[in-house]
Amino acid sequence: MDNGGLMKNLTPTQIVKELDKYIIGQNDAKRAVAIALRNRWRRQQVEEGIKEEIMPNNIILIGPTGVGKTEIARRLAKLSGAPFIKVEASKYTEVGYVGRDVESMVRDLTELAVTMVRSEKTVSVQEKAERMAEEKILDQLIPPIKKSSTGDENGENEEIQNEKTREWMREKLRNGELDDRMIEFDITSPAFGMQVLGPMGMDDMSMNLQEMFSSMIPKKKKKRKTAIKEARKIIAQEEAEKLIDMEAVQKEAIKRVQESGIVFIDEIDKIAGAKSQQGPDVSREGVQRDLLPIVEGSTVNTKYGPVKTDHVLFIASGAFHVSKPSDLIPELQGRFPIRVELKSLTEEDFIKILTLPQNALLKQYTALLQTEGVAIKFTDSAIKEVAKTAALVNDQVENIGARRLHTILTTLLEDILFEVPDKMPKSEVEISGEMVNSKLDKIVRNRDLSKYIL
Ligand SMILES: Nc1ncnc2c1ncn2[C@@H]1O[C@H](COP(=O)(O)OP(=O)(O)OP(=O)(O)O)[C@@H](O)[C@H]1O
Ligand SMILES: [Mg+2]
Repeated sequence: MDNGGLMKNLTPTQIVKELDKYIIGQNDAKRAVAIALRNRWRRQQVEEGIKEEIMPNNIILIGPTGVGKTEIARRLAKLSGAPFIKVEASKYTEVGYVGRDVESMVRDLTELAVTMVRSEKTVSVQEKAERMAEEKILDQLIPPIKKSSTGDENGENEEIQNEKTREWMREKLRNGELDDRMIEFDITSPAFGMQVLGPMGMDDMSMNLQEMFSSMIPKKKKKRKTAIKEARKIIAQEEAEKLIDMEAVQKEAIKRVQESGIVFIDEIDKIAGAKSQQGPDVSREGVQRDLLPIVEGSTVNTKYGPVKTDHVLFIASGAFHVSKPSDLIPELQGRFPIRVELKSLTEEDFIKILTLPQNALLKQYTALLQTEGVAIKFTDSAIKEVAKTAALVNDQVENIGARRLHTILTTLLEDILFEVPDKMPKSEVEISGEMVNSKLDKIVRNRDLSKYIL
C-alpha cells in the first residue's frame, strides 16, 4: 500500500468525516486526532533539516468510560494504514520487576509493522508465486522431458508430445478439475513449536534465545500429501516467502514505525497517582518514568534492529475518575501537550449510536436475526425508550456510557434470541415502545435488580 498516497487524501476534514461513520459526537477528540495524524504526513513533506525538528503532538484523551476513546483510536488506525498498537498502561511494570517493560510496546509495534509490510509484499509477489506453484505441481504430474541434445527425431517428437500433454494438464489444473486429486510434495518444514521463555520480565533475553534456537535447528525438507487444491496454496506460500526480501521488509517496517507509528496507551490514569495501596509492590511512578524516554524519543533495540521513537505518535487515554492528569508526573504531562475531553453521552446521543454508525447495535442484531430468517424492526418509540432507559440507568446506577446499550439490548432481546428459530420460525418481529417498557420497566424501577441485570 502506498501510505503516502493514502494519507494525501486524508485531510483533517476527511478524517473526521470517516470517524463520523462510527463515532457519534466527540468532535473535539476527532479534530485533535485528525490534526495529529495529518501533521505526521505534513512533516514528511517538509524538507530535511527542519523536518527532524518537528515533533509529534502527543494527545491525552480524557473522558468517562464507554464514550468512544478506544473506538476513536481503533478507527483512526484502520483508516490511516499506519502501524498501530493499543496497549494498556496498567500491564507494564517498572524495569527490574516481574512483568513486561515499557520498551516492549515498541518491539510489539515493530513486529506488527513487519507483518504488515510482509503481507503487502506477499500480495505483490502472489501472482508469480502461484505461477511457480502451478509449474511445480505440473512437474510432479507430468515431469518435463530433458531437451535432447542429439537432435534425433524421436526425441524431438517426444518433447513436443510431452509439452502438449503438459499444456493439456495445465488447463485441467487451472479450471480446477484436478482439485481433489492427491499429490505428494516437498516442503521446508519450519522450526516450529519452539517457544522459548526467558526469565520473566526479560523480554530481550527471551527474544534472543528464541532467535538463537530457531537458527540452530536445521530447516529440513518434509514430504506432505494433500489434495492439489490445498497443495497449490501451500507451495505458493512457500514460493512467495522465497521471493520476498526479508531484509528489505524489515528495513521498510522500521522506517514506517519511526515515521508513522502510533502507540495508543489506554488506561493511563491507572498508573497515575499515589503508589498503589494493595497488590504487588510495583511502582506506578516507575512505569511513568520508564515511559518518559520512549515518549520523548529514544532508541529501542528490537530483533529487527534499533528503532527510534522520536516521531512515533502517542495517544494516551484514561477515564481519570480517581486520579487526574495532574497526578501524572510533570515530565510525562509535558510530553502530552494536547488534552481533549470527551463528553458524557446523552439520550439523544444514544438514539444516534443505536441507529447511525456503520456498526450500529441495532444493525448488528438485525443482521444476526436475519440469518435465521427473522426480520426484526424497532419502531422509533422503541429506540427512544431504549435510549431513555440507558440514560436513566447510567444516571442512577453507574455511568458506563454507550456500553449500557449493550446490556439493555441483550436483556430486551434475550427471549427472542433464545426462541429463534425453534419457537419462533421465520417471521417478522416489531419491537414497540410499549414492549420495551413492559420488559424493562420493572427492572429499572428496582435499583438492586438493575444493578445486576442492566
Ligand atoms: N460516541 C460514540 N459513538 C458510537 N459508539 C460509541 C461511542 N462511544 C462509545 N461507543 C461504543 O461503546 C463501546 C465502548 O466504547 P469505547 O471502547 O470507545 O470506550 P472507552 O471510552 O474507551 O471507555 P474505557 O474508558 O472504559 O476504556 C464501543 O462498542 C463503542 O462502539
Ligand atoms: Mg477504552
